[in-house]
Amino acid sequence: MALSEERAPAPPRHIAIIMDGNGRWAKQRGLPRTAGHAAGAESFRRIANYCRTLGVEYLTVYAFSTENWKRSQDEVQGIMVLLRRYLEEALRDMDKNQVRFRFFGDLSQLSPQLRKLCRDAESRSGVYKVQVNFCLNYGGRDELVRAARRFAQDVAAGKCGPEDLTEERMDSYLYSAGVPDPELIIRPSGEKRLSNFLLWQSAYSEFVFMNVLWPDFMPEHLDEAIEEFHRRNRRFGGT
Ligand code: FPP
Repeated sequence: MALSEERAPAPPRHIAIIMDGNGRWAKQRGLPRTAGHAAGAESFRRIANYCRTLGVEYLTVYAFSTENWKRSQDEVQGIMVLLRRYLEEALRDMDKNQVRFRFFGDLSQLSPQLRKLCRDAESRSGVYKVQVNFCLNYGGRDELVRAARRFAQDVAAGKCGPEDLTEERMDSYLYSAGVPDPELIIRPSGEKRLSNFLLWQSAYSEFVFMNVLWPDFMPEHLDEAIEEFHRRNRRFGGT
């Protein structure tokens, strides 16, 4: 075996995760759904740290979708409180954790307090190893409609013509502008759907669906998903 083959292959540059199964995790324990989300937030902390250790450059997580407003006010409020607490803590520890943040989604519907935390986190610059992209009030279709609208506005303003729309230009109108597409998308909890997540960006992603609930998701599960990703890559790369 060649020397290079003995070393663990590099992890994907960009991993995206649908953090699913918090509600079921809570139900199994007779706890309120918010307790499941609190455990899910802990799981996120664990996995974001592990991604930094592994050298993953971008971690994108689906924290709140455009459809999640349909949940009870208590549950929505509970998720918002967890996000606020996390961002307050993250702003304090950003340099130590060597992380930076981007937010994908329409933040205008969030509370002014949460919006300010998002803006403060996004505007902080410094040395970082991993970029976390939080999808907040995010929907893939909403992102595409917004991009189409922005392009139409540029055409109407005479900045460009319809023939100037290319894939690269389309990218530039998305929340994810400048971020490479995720090579790997993981959905725990046994569900096998994309649920309006990264519709444009997932065109060539590998999908790994796992039977573990998000609050129980451990670094070993991420290792397992990455191994599966490499197995698929090797097969496609073979003769
Ligand atoms: C899906 O599980 C999860 C969500 C809609 C919310 C995800 C939010 C968090 C993990 C907390 C956010 C905070 C931080 C700091 C990341 P579900 O409730 O739909 O689960 P179920 O399908 O079992 O009901």
